[in-house]
Amino acid sequence: MTDEQARNMAELPERARGMPDAVRVALALNLLTEEGLPHFHRLLAVTMGSDNAWSRWNYMWTAEEDRHGCALHDYVRDARLFDMRAFEALQYQYIEAGFDPESSGDPYQIMAYTTLQERATQAAHANTARVAGRHEPIIQRLLARVANDESRHFRFYRDIFRGILEIDCTRALQAALKVVPRLAMPGHTIPGYMEMAEVVGQAEIYGPLPHGGGRMSGRV
Ligand SMILES: [Fe+2]
Ligand SMILES: [Fe+2]
Repeated sequence: MTDEQARNMAELPERARGMPDAVRVALALNLLTEEGLPHFHRLLAVTMGSDNAWSRWNYMWTAEEDRHGCALHDYVRDARLFDMRAFEALQYQYIEAGFDPESSGDPYQIMAYTTLQERATQAAHANTARVAGRHEPIIQRLLARVANDESRHFRFYRDIFRGILEIDCTRALQAALKVVPRLAMPGHTIPGYMEMAEVVGQAEIYGPLPHGGGRMSGRV
């Protein structure tokens, strides 16, 4: 570690001290959602099978997503943004509770779901980067980098779903019709999710679009 990096690390908690509670909650939700990766790896593995090109994609995608959780986790620990014991208890409960969306088993529904959830997480990270960056520049760069990865994931799944629409339009639309009305953020099974989402929405960081337009939505 260079002297400059060491100084940056030592000064990080002080710089992050002014981060408002709503921004901390947004960061907690984003990080918890990333930490749900075992759920999403399993969902793809079970639905798409392991004896085909999808398993290669799933491993590559999982490796990249895993870095998101690690980098954000290291940041919030080093910036001393949370009570880490309480945070890690939430993380444990979220993983232990399992995750089994109704769409599991239908590859078309999974492609519709992953397209929308990648777009939603991209918006959540990008919006959080914007507000957190007013208080601390490192988290803005980190979240912008993560949002950029999510954007690439979104484009991959969107192109897959576009291909499905071209070759099997009726069934693709039936799958989308099942997924879209009941779409929830990938972390919606996190304990206390609704309360945390309410805080983040009230602070206009991200949340449902008000009728008649308005802020960018993290829940597409
Ligand atoms: Fe991610
Ligand atoms: Fe992603």
